[in-house]
Amino acid sequence: MSKIPLSVLLFLFGNLLSSSVVHAIVNVTGNKTQYFKAGSDRNSGKDCDRGWPHCKQPITAQRSSLLPVEAEVLIFEDLRLSVVYPVIQKFKSIISSDPQGITKTWVGSDICNYKGFYCDNPPDNKSATAVASIDFNGFQLGAPSLEGFLDQLPDIAVFHANSNKFAGTISTNIAKLPYLYELDVSNNRLSGPFPTAVVGLNSLTFLDLRFNFFTGSVPPRLFAQDFDFLLINNNNLMQNLPDSLSSTHILYLTLANNKFSGSIPVGIVEALSSLTEVLLVNNSLSGCLPYELGSLDEAVVFDAGNNRLTGPLPFSLACLKKVEQLNFAGNLLYGMVPEMSLPSHVDLYSNALHVYLY
Ligand SMILES: *[C@@H]1O[C@H](CO)[C@@H](O)[C@H](O)[C@H]1NC(C)=O
Ligand SMILES: *[C@@H]1O[C@H](CO)[C@@H](O)[C@H](O)[C@H]1NC(C)=O
Ligand SMILES: *[C@@H]1O[C@H](CO)[C@@H](O)[C@H](O)[C@H]1NC(C)=O
Ligand SMILES: *[C@@H]1O[C@H](CO)[C@@H](O)[C@H](O)[C@H]1NC(C)=O
Repeated sequence: MSKIPLSVLLFLFGNLLSSSVVHAIVNVTGNKTQYFKAGSDRNSGKDCDRGWPHCKQPITAQRSSLLPVEAEVLIFEDLRLSVVYPVIQKFKSIISSDPQGITKTWVGSDICNYKGFYCDNPPDNKSATAVASIDFNGFQLGAPSLEGFLDQLPDIAVFHANSNKFAGTISTNIAKLPYLYELDVSNNRLSGPFPTAVVGLNSLTFLDLRFNFFTGSVPPRLFAQDFDFLLINNNNLMQNLPDSLSSTHILYLTLANNKFSGSIPVGIVEALSSLTEVLLVNNSLSGCLPYELGSLDEAVVFDAGNNRLTGPLPFSLACLKKVEQLNFAGNLLYGMVPEMSLPSHVDLYSNALHVYLY
Protein backbone atom coordinates (compact mmCIF):
# COMPACT_ATOMS: atom_id res chain seq x y z
CA MET A 1 0.00 0.00 0.00
CA SER A 2 1.38 3.36 -0.92
CA LYS A 3 0.98 6.40 1.19
CA ILE A 4 -0.37 9.44 -0.53
CA PRO A 5 1.57 12.61 0.13
CA LEU A 6 -0.24 15.69 -1.06
CA SER A 7 2.54 16.50 -3.50
CA VAL A 8 1.96 13.25 -5.35
CA LEU A 9 -1.72 14.03 -5.76
CA LEU A 10 -0.93 17.35 -7.26
CA PHE A 11 1.64 15.82 -9.50
CA LEU A 12 -0.88 13.29 -10.71
CA PHE A 13 -3.40 15.98 -11.33
CA GLY A 14 -0.94 17.51 -13.76
CA ASN A 15 -0.55 14.14 -15.43
CA LEU A 16 -4.21 13.74 -15.94
CA LEU A 17 -4.39 16.86 -18.01
CA SER A 18 -1.78 15.72 -20.44
CA SER A 19 -2.63 12.07 -20.79
CA SER A 20 -5.02 10.45 -23.19
CA VAL A 21 -7.41 7.67 -22.32
CA VAL A 22 -6.53 5.28 -25.07
CA HIS A 23 -8.90 2.46 -24.19
CA ALA A 24 -11.98 4.66 -24.12
CA ILE A 25 -14.39 4.72 -26.99
CA VAL A 26 -15.90 7.86 -25.66
CA ASN A 27 -14.23 11.17 -25.71
CA VAL A 28 -16.70 13.35 -23.92
CA THR A 29 -14.95 16.55 -24.81
CA GLY A 30 -14.75 15.55 -28.44
CA ASN A 31 -17.82 14.76 -30.45
CA LYS A 32 -16.65 12.29 -33.08
CA THR A 33 -17.48 8.63 -32.83
CA GLN A 34 -15.00 5.80 -32.90
CA TYR A 35 -16.36 2.30 -32.66
CA PHE A 36 -14.58 -0.24 -30.59
CA LYS A 37 -15.89 -3.24 -28.86
CA ALA A 38 -14.15 -4.75 -25.91
CA GLY A 39 -11.46 -6.94 -27.38
CA SER A 40 -12.03 -6.07 -31.03
CA ASP A 41 -11.33 -3.21 -33.33
CA ARG A 42 -14.52 -1.64 -34.54
CA ASN A 43 -12.62 0.51 -36.99
CA SER A 44 -11.75 -2.49 -39.10
CA GLY A 45 -15.30 -2.41 -40.40
CA LYS A 46 -15.69 -6.03 -39.45
CA ASP A 47 -18.70 -6.56 -37.26
CA CYS A 48 -19.66 -10.13 -37.68
CA ASP A 49 -20.43 -11.06 -34.11
CA ARG A 50 -24.16 -10.58 -34.43
CA GLY A 51 -24.40 -12.33 -37.75
CA TRP A 52 -26.28 -9.39 -39.20
CA PRO A 53 -25.24 -7.42 -41.07
CA HIS A 54 -22.35 -9.57 -42.24
CA CYS A 55 -19.13 -7.61 -41.97
CA LYS A 56 -20.76 -4.64 -43.67
CA GLN A 57 -19.58 -5.52 -47.17
CA PRO A 58 -21.50 -3.75 -49.87
CA ILE A 59 -23.27 -6.27 -52.04
CA THR A 60 -22.78 -5.71 -55.72
CA ALA A 61 -25.87 -6.18 -57.78
CA GLN A 62 -25.85 -9.19 -60.07
CA ARG A 63 -27.87 -8.31 -63.08
CA SER A 64 -25.91 -9.70 -66.00
CA SER A 65 -28.87 -11.70 -67.25
CA LEU A 66 -31.19 -8.71 -67.25
CA LEU A 67 -32.46 -7.60 -70.61
CA PRO A 68 -31.68 -4.03 -71.64
CA VAL A 69 -34.35 -1.72 -70.24
CA GLU A 70 -35.54 1.74 -70.95
CA ALA A 71 -33.82 4.41 -68.95
CA GLU A 72 -36.86 5.34 -66.88
CA VAL A 73 -37.62 1.82 -65.74
CA LEU A 74 -35.84 0.87 -62.56
CA ILE A 75 -35.11 -2.77 -62.02
CA PHE A 76 -34.33 -3.68 -58.46
CA GLU A 77 -32.28 -6.63 -57.37
CA ASP A 78 -34.82 -7.34 -54.68
CA LEU A 79 -38.35 -6.34 -53.77
CA ARG A 80 -37.07 -4.98 -50.44
CA LEU A 81 -34.85 -2.50 -52.25
CA SER A 82 -37.75 -1.26 -54.35
CA VAL A 83 -39.69 -0.64 -51.14
CA VAL A 84 -37.02 1.62 -49.62
CA TYR A 85 -36.22 3.41 -52.88
CA PRO A 86 -39.01 6.02 -52.52
CA VAL A 87 -38.15 6.43 -48.84
CA ILE A 88 -34.57 7.29 -49.73
CA GLN A 89 -35.56 9.59 -52.59
CA LYS A 90 -37.97 11.46 -50.36
CA PHE A 91 -35.24 11.92 -47.78
CA LYS A 92 -32.87 13.10 -50.50
CA SER A 93 -35.40 15.76 -51.48
CA ILE A 94 -35.32 17.31 -48.00
CA ILE A 95 -31.52 17.30 -47.64
CA SER A 96 -30.67 20.95 -47.09
CA SER A 97 -26.91 20.71 -47.15
CA ASP A 98 -24.50 18.22 -48.65
CA PRO A 99 -21.03 19.77 -48.85
CA GLN A 100 -19.40 16.47 -49.84
CA GLY A 101 -21.81 15.69 -52.67
CA ILE A 102 -22.88 12.43 -51.06
CA THR A 103 -26.43 12.40 -52.38
CA LYS A 104 -25.23 12.67 -55.98
CA THR A 105 -24.64 8.93 -55.72
CA TRP A 106 -28.20 8.26 -54.55
CA VAL A 107 -29.46 7.71 -58.07
CA GLY A 108 -31.01 4.71 -59.76
CA SER A 109 -31.88 1.25 -58.56
CA ASP A 110 -28.45 0.18 -57.32
CA ILE A 111 -29.13 1.27 -53.74
CA CYS A 112 -26.45 -1.02 -52.37
CA ASN A 113 -23.85 1.18 -54.03
CA TYR A 114 -25.26 4.50 -52.82
CA LYS A 115 -22.66 6.21 -50.67
CA GLY A 116 -23.44 5.49 -47.01
CA PHE A 117 -25.73 2.52 -47.69
CA TYR A 118 -24.82 -1.12 -47.14
CA CYS A 119 -26.86 -4.17 -48.05
CA ASP A 120 -26.99 -7.66 -46.70
CA ASN A 121 -29.19 -10.70 -46.50
CA PRO A 122 -31.76 -10.08 -43.76
CA PRO A 123 -32.18 -12.61 -40.96
CA ASP A 124 -35.69 -13.60 -41.98
CA ASN A 125 -34.79 -14.51 -45.57
CA LYS A 126 -31.26 -15.47 -46.46
CA SER A 127 -31.92 -15.14 -50.17
CA ALA A 128 -33.26 -11.60 -49.97
CA THR A 129 -31.17 -8.41 -50.16
CA ALA A 130 -32.02 -5.42 -48.01
CA VAL A 131 -30.53 -2.16 -46.72
CA ALA A 132 -28.90 -3.45 -43.55
CA SER A 133 -26.74 -0.62 -42.46
CA ILE A 134 -26.19 3.08 -42.94
CA ASP A 135 -23.00 4.92 -42.19
CA PHE A 136 -23.31 8.69 -42.62
CA ASN A 137 -20.60 9.49 -40.08
CA GLY A 138 -19.01 12.84 -40.82
CA PHE A 139 -20.97 13.48 -44.03
CA GLN A 140 -22.22 16.85 -42.66
CA LEU A 141 -25.60 16.30 -44.26
CA GLY A 142 -28.35 18.65 -43.17
CA ALA A 143 -32.03 17.75 -42.98
CA PRO A 144 -34.93 19.13 -40.96
CA SER A 145 -35.86 15.65 -39.80
CA LEU A 146 -35.03 11.94 -39.91
CA GLU A 147 -38.71 11.19 -39.57
CA GLY A 148 -40.05 9.12 -42.46
CA PHE A 149 -36.55 7.90 -43.25
CA LEU A 150 -34.86 6.02 -40.44
CA ASP A 151 -38.18 4.66 -39.21
CA GLN A 152 -39.17 3.49 -42.71
CA LEU A 153 -36.16 1.25 -43.31
CA PRO A 154 -37.66 -2.03 -42.09
CA ASP A 155 -34.47 -4.11 -42.24
CA ILE A 156 -32.04 -1.60 -40.81
CA ALA A 157 -29.66 -3.02 -38.21
CA VAL A 158 -27.03 -0.30 -37.89
CA PHE A 159 -27.62 3.44 -38.23
CA HIS A 160 -24.56 5.64 -37.77
CA ALA A 161 -24.94 9.37 -38.36
CA ASN A 162 -22.34 11.06 -36.17
CA SER A 163 -21.50 14.70 -37.02
CA ASN A 164 -24.28 15.67 -39.38
CA LYS A 165 -26.82 18.45 -39.09
CA PHE A 166 -29.98 16.44 -38.65
CA ALA A 167 -32.66 18.28 -36.72
CA GLY A 168 -36.14 17.50 -35.46
CA THR A 169 -37.16 14.70 -33.16
CA ILE A 170 -36.75 10.93 -33.37
CA SER A 171 -39.93 9.25 -34.59
CA THR A 172 -41.76 6.90 -32.25
CA ASN A 173 -42.01 4.57 -35.25
CA ILE A 174 -38.44 3.39 -34.69
CA ALA A 175 -40.04 1.09 -32.13
CA LYS A 176 -41.09 -1.03 -35.11
CA LEU A 177 -37.58 -1.73 -36.37
CA PRO A 178 -36.99 -5.34 -35.36
CA TYR A 179 -33.29 -5.59 -36.16
CA LEU A 180 -31.93 -2.22 -35.05
CA TYR A 181 -29.01 -2.87 -32.75
CA GLU A 182 -26.78 0.19 -33.16
CA LEU A 183 -28.19 3.70 -33.21
CA ASP A 184 -25.70 6.55 -33.30
CA VAL A 185 -27.07 10.01 -33.98
CA SER A 186 -24.44 11.81 -31.92
CA ASN A 187 -23.37 15.37 -32.66
CA ASN A 188 -26.46 16.48 -34.56
CA ARG A 189 -29.16 19.04 -33.84
CA LEU A 190 -31.85 16.68 -32.65
CA SER A 191 -34.18 18.00 -30.01
CA GLY A 192 -37.43 17.31 -28.25
CA PRO A 193 -38.02 14.86 -25.45
CA PHE A 194 -35.85 11.82 -24.97
CA PRO A 195 -36.84 9.29 -27.68
CA THR A 196 -38.67 6.88 -25.41
CA ALA A 197 -39.33 4.58 -28.37
CA VAL A 198 -35.86 3.13 -27.83
CA VAL A 199 -37.15 1.60 -24.62
CA GLY A 200 -38.27 -1.87 -25.51
CA LEU A 201 -36.23 -2.09 -28.71
CA ASN A 202 -34.86 -5.37 -27.50
CA SER A 203 -32.24 -5.76 -30.16
CA LEU A 204 -30.63 -2.40 -29.39
CA THR A 205 -27.25 -2.73 -27.69
CA PHE A 206 -25.58 0.53 -28.69
CA LEU A 207 -27.33 3.85 -28.18
CA ASP A 208 -25.41 7.05 -28.78
CA LEU A 209 -27.37 10.30 -28.50
CA ARG A 210 -24.44 12.47 -27.35
CA PHE A 211 -24.17 16.12 -28.31
CA ASN A 212 -27.76 16.89 -29.20
CA PHE A 213 -30.49 18.94 -27.56
CA PHE A 214 -32.73 16.30 -26.05
CA THR A 215 -34.52 17.60 -22.99
CA GLY A 216 -36.49 16.34 -20.03
CA SER A 217 -36.30 13.00 -18.37
CA VAL A 218 -35.15 9.55 -19.39
CA PRO A 219 -37.52 6.66 -18.80
CA PRO A 220 -36.11 4.73 -15.80
CA ARG A 221 -36.67 1.51 -17.74
CA LEU A 222 -33.88 2.59 -20.06
CA PHE A 223 -31.40 1.77 -17.33
CA ALA A 224 -32.81 -1.73 -17.09
CA GLN A 225 -32.32 -2.42 -20.78
CA ASP A 226 -29.59 -4.67 -22.07
CA PHE A 227 -27.17 -2.15 -23.57
CA ASP A 228 -23.44 -2.50 -24.02
CA PHE A 229 -23.14 1.23 -24.61
CA LEU A 230 -25.46 3.93 -23.33
CA LEU A 231 -24.06 7.30 -24.31
CA ILE A 232 -26.33 10.25 -23.63
CA ASN A 233 -23.90 12.91 -22.47
CA ASN A 234 -24.10 16.56 -23.57
CA ASN A 235 -27.84 16.96 -23.79
CA ASN A 236 -30.27 18.76 -21.56
CA LEU A 237 -31.58 15.78 -19.65
CA MET A 238 -32.70 16.33 -16.10
CA GLN A 239 -34.06 14.01 -13.45
CA ASN A 240 -33.08 12.04 -10.38
CA LEU A 241 -31.21 8.89 -11.29
CA PRO A 242 -33.40 5.86 -10.63
CA ASP A 243 -32.65 3.80 -7.51
CA SER A 244 -31.78 0.76 -9.47
CA LEU A 245 -29.79 0.44 -12.63
CA SER A 246 -30.45 -3.15 -13.42
CA SER A 247 -28.81 -3.47 -16.81
CA THR A 248 -26.57 -6.47 -16.51
CA HIS A 249 -23.69 -6.02 -18.85
CA ILE A 250 -23.42 -2.37 -19.74
CA LEU A 251 -19.79 -1.47 -20.44
CA TYR A 252 -19.95 2.28 -21.05
CA LEU A 253 -22.36 4.64 -19.36
CA THR A 254 -21.98 8.34 -20.06
CA LEU A 255 -24.43 10.77 -18.53
CA ALA A 256 -21.97 13.68 -18.38
CA ASN A 257 -22.89 17.30 -19.09
CA ASN A 258 -26.59 17.02 -18.37
CA LYS A 259 -28.62 17.99 -15.33
CA PHE A 260 -29.03 14.64 -13.64
CA SER A 261 -29.66 14.99 -9.93
CA GLY A 262 -30.14 12.85 -6.84
CA SER A 263 -27.67 10.35 -5.47
CA ILE A 264 -25.49 7.84 -7.22
CA PRO A 265 -27.68 4.75 -6.87
CA VAL A 266 -26.46 2.19 -4.36
CA GLY A 267 -27.63 -0.49 -6.77
CA ILE A 268 -25.02 0.64 -9.29
CA VAL A 269 -22.83 -2.25 -8.33
CA GLU A 270 -24.75 -5.47 -8.59
CA ALA A 271 -26.35 -3.99 -11.66
CA LEU A 272 -23.26 -2.79 -13.36
CA SER A 273 -20.60 -5.30 -12.53
CA SER A 274 -19.10 -5.13 -15.98
CA LEU A 275 -19.03 -1.32 -16.20
CA THR A 276 -15.76 -0.20 -17.68
CA GLU A 277 -16.29 3.50 -18.02
CA VAL A 278 -18.72 5.67 -16.10
CA LEU A 279 -18.92 9.38 -16.85
CA LEU A 280 -21.15 11.36 -14.51
CA VAL A 281 -19.12 14.57 -14.68
CA ASN A 282 -20.86 17.95 -14.84
CA ASN A 283 -24.27 17.08 -13.44
CA SER A 284 -26.03 17.98 -10.21
CA LEU A 285 -25.62 14.70 -8.37
CA SER A 286 -25.69 15.02 -4.60
CA GLY A 287 -25.46 12.86 -1.53
CA CYS A 288 -22.61 10.64 -0.42
CA LEU A 289 -20.59 8.23 -2.51
CA PRO A 290 -21.95 4.74 -1.95
CA TYR A 291 -19.58 2.27 -0.32
CA GLU A 292 -20.55 -0.17 -3.08
CA LEU A 293 -18.51 1.79 -5.62
CA GLY A 294 -15.54 -0.24 -4.45
CA SER A 295 -17.06 -3.31 -6.08
CA LEU A 296 -17.02 -1.99 -9.62
CA ASP A 297 -14.50 -4.65 -10.49
CA GLU A 298 -14.11 -3.76 -14.14
CA ALA A 299 -14.12 0.02 -13.83
CA VAL A 300 -11.24 1.70 -15.63
CA VAL A 301 -12.65 5.23 -15.65
CA PHE A 302 -14.99 6.60 -13.02
CA ASP A 303 -15.58 10.30 -13.39
CA ALA A 304 -18.03 12.03 -11.09
CA GLY A 305 -16.33 15.42 -11.11
CA ASN A 306 -18.22 18.72 -10.93
CA ASN A 307 -21.28 17.55 -9.05
CA ARG A 308 -22.50 18.28 -5.54
CA LEU A 309 -21.36 15.06 -3.96
CA THR A 310 -20.53 15.28 -0.30
CA GLY A 311 -19.22 13.21 2.57
CA PRO A 312 -16.03 11.16 2.69
CA LEU A 313 -14.44 9.00 0.04
CA PRO A 314 -15.46 5.43 0.82
CA PHE A 315 -12.53 3.26 1.89
CA SER A 316 -13.81 0.63 -0.50
CA LEU A 317 -12.31 2.64 -3.37
CA ALA A 318 -9.04 0.97 -2.45
CA CYS A 319 -10.55 -2.23 -3.88
CA LEU A 320 -10.83 -0.89 -7.43
CA LYS A 321 -8.21 -3.02 -9.12
CA LYS A 322 -8.39 -1.85 -12.72
CA VAL A 323 -9.13 1.82 -12.30
CA GLU A 324 -6.89 4.21 -14.19
CA GLN A 325 -8.83 7.40 -13.87
CA LEU A 326 -10.83 8.38 -10.85
CA ASN A 327 -12.19 11.89 -10.81
CA PHE A 328 -14.08 13.48 -7.95
CA ALA A 329 -12.83 17.00 -8.52
CA GLY A 330 -15.22 19.90 -8.05
CA ASN A 331 -17.44 18.31 -5.40
CA LEU A 332 -17.98 18.94 -1.71
CA LEU A 333 -16.17 15.91 -0.42
CA TYR A 334 -14.32 16.08 2.87
CA GLY A 335 -12.50 13.79 5.22
CA MET A 336 -9.53 11.62 4.53
CA VAL A 337 -8.30 9.84 1.46
CA PRO A 338 -8.35 6.07 1.85
CA GLU A 339 -5.00 4.38 1.84
CA MET A 340 -4.90 2.72 -1.54
CA SER A 341 -2.43 1.77 -4.16
CA LEU A 342 -2.95 4.77 -6.30
CA PRO A 343 -4.46 4.40 -9.69
CA SER A 344 -2.51 6.26 -12.30
CA HIS A 345 -4.86 9.23 -12.38
CA VAL A 346 -6.62 10.32 -9.24
CA ASP A 347 -8.13 13.72 -9.31
CA LEU A 348 -9.48 14.98 -6.05
CA TYR A 349 -8.79 18.59 -6.78
CA SER A 350 -11.04 21.28 -5.33
CA ASN A 351 -12.56 19.35 -2.49
CA ALA A 352 -11.84 19.85 1.17
CA LEU A 353 -10.03 16.56 1.53
CA HIS A 354 -7.29 16.19 4.07
CA VAL A 355 -4.63 13.69 3.40
CA TYR A 356 -3.49 11.77 6.41
CA LEU A 357 -0.01 10.38 6.30
CA TYR A 358 0.36 7.12 8.17
C1 LIG B 1 -10.98 14.47 -27.32
O1 LIG B 1 -11.45 15.38 -28.29
C2 LIG B 1 -10.85 16.66 -28.22
C3 LIG B 1 -11.56 17.58 -29.17
O2 LIG B 1 -11.77 16.94 -30.41
C4 LIG B 1 -9.36 16.50 -28.52
O3 LIG B 1 -8.72 17.76 -28.44
C5 LIG B 1 -8.75 15.56 -27.50
O4 LIG B 1 -7.41 15.32 -27.84
C6 LIG B 1 -9.49 14.25 -27.49
N1 LIG B 1 -9.00 13.44 -26.38
C7 LIG B 1 -8.72 12.15 -26.53
C8 LIG B 1 -8.31 11.46 -25.30
O5 LIG B 1 -8.79 11.58 -27.62
C1 LIG C 1 -18.26 19.26 -32.60
O1 LIG C 1 -18.55 19.12 -33.97
C2 LIG C 1 -18.73 20.33 -34.68
C3 LIG C 1 -19.07 19.99 -36.10
O2 LIG C 1 -20.01 18.96 -36.15
C4 LIG C 1 -17.51 21.20 -34.57
O3 LIG C 1 -17.72 22.43 -35.24
C5 LIG C 1 -17.15 21.45 -33.13
O4 LIG C 1 -15.98 22.15 -33.02
C6 LIG C 1 -17.04 20.13 -32.39
N1 LIG C 1 -16.82 20.34 -30.97
C7 LIG C 1 -15.91 19.69 -30.28
C8 LIG C 1 -15.84 20.00 -28.83
O5 LIG C 1 -15.20 18.85 -30.77
C1 LIG D 1 -36.91 -14.56 -50.01
O1 LIG D 1 -36.35 -13.60 -50.85
C2 LIG D 1 -36.33 -13.99 -52.22
C3 LIG D 1 -35.56 -12.91 -52.95
O2 LIG D 1 -36.18 -11.67 -52.77
C4 LIG D 1 -37.73 -14.18 -52.71
O3 LIG D 1 -37.71 -14.58 -54.06
C5 LIG D 1 -38.44 -15.22 -51.87
O4 LIG D 1 -39.78 -15.32 -52.24
C6 LIG D 1 -38.35 -14.84 -50.41
N1 LIG D 1 -38.84 -15.93 -49.59
C7 LIG D 1 -39.81 -15.74 -48.71
C8 LIG D 1 -40.22 -16.95 -47.94
O5 LIG D 1 -40.34 -14.65 -48.52
C1 LIG E 1 -17.45 20.17 -17.60
O1 LIG E 1 -17.93 21.49 -17.72
C2 LIG E 1 -16.91 22.47 -17.87
C3 LIG E 1 -17.54 23.84 -17.78
O2 LIG E 1 -18.61 23.94 -18.65
C4 LIG E 1 -16.19 22.23 -19.19
O3 LIG E 1 -15.16 23.16 -19.38
C5 LIG E 1 -15.62 20.83 -19.18
O4 LIG E 1 -15.04 20.54 -20.44
C6 LIG E 1 -16.67 19.78 -18.88
N1 LIG E 1 -16.03 18.49 -18.71
C7 LIG E 1 -16.26 17.49 -19.53
C8 LIG E 1 -15.50 16.24 -19.25
O5 LIG E 1 -17.05 17.55 -20.46
